[in-house]
Amino acid sequence: MEISPAGMAHQDAYRVFMSIVVPRPIAWVSTISLDGVDNLAPFSMYTLLSTKPAIVGFAMGTARHGGKKDTLINIEDTKEFVINIANEETAEAMNKTSTPVEAAVSEFDQAGLKRIESNKVKPPRVGQSPVSMECQLQQVLEFGCEPRINRFIIGEVVLIHVRDELWQNGNVDYTGLQAIGRLGESDLYCRTTNVFRMKRP
Ligand SMILES: Cc1cc2nc3c(=O)[nH]c(=O)nc-3n(C[C@H](O)[C@H](O)[C@H](O)COP(=O)(O)O)c2cc1C
Repeated sequence: MEISPAGMAHQDAYRVFMSIVVPRPIAWVSTISLDGVDNLAPFSMYTLLSTKPAIVGFAMGTARHGGKKDTLINIEDTKEFVINIANEETAEAMNKTSTPVEAAVSEFDQAGLKRIESNKVKPPRVGQSPVSMECQLQQVLEFGCEPRINRFIIGEVVLIHVRDELWQNGNVDYTGLQAIGRLGESDLYCRTTNVFRMKRP
């Protein structure tokens, strides 16, 4: 089987890549608008780019109606965002916050989530998240052209919050973190409980 993505319809290519690049961690991104309305949404096209400087990035497509998603509008306006870790405990709430709602409505309220004021950026972090990273925007890369532009948002982590009981010898304890990952089909996820170790050669 060989697949040439350039010739595929958008939706078909999307399905192929979502099923190949797995499991994907989930950046649960909180932002705030210029009007002061906070916003929260999950993004699984997410990765770590550098640890020092501390750089993370996540990608997003266009909104259903075309145009930019609220998360991007807020980040472009304020240059700030928070990446919260979604885990087994917050999975349902995280999923709820992916519902497209009007910019005037906050997904924090819609999903019954607690806001905690951030220290270095304006968007609040998710109170129920075991780990949150306060970020400042570095750059936005664009791929493709209208009406379907994909954007990769790159930010510098300026402060990390870790729940005290998860901090073990300079690491975040994965057993307590209970992070989840996203797999190919739109409603398929995995846990991080079935793990194994392998010594580096
Ligand atoms: C687990 C999960 C992962 C998602 N990952 C992405 C992603 O990587 N890129 C993207 O554009 N949308 C992704 N979405 C959809 C967005 O969360 C959705 O479009 C959301 O409404 C955007 O919110 P906003 O308009 O408030 O920014 C994902 C949804 C879920 C449930």
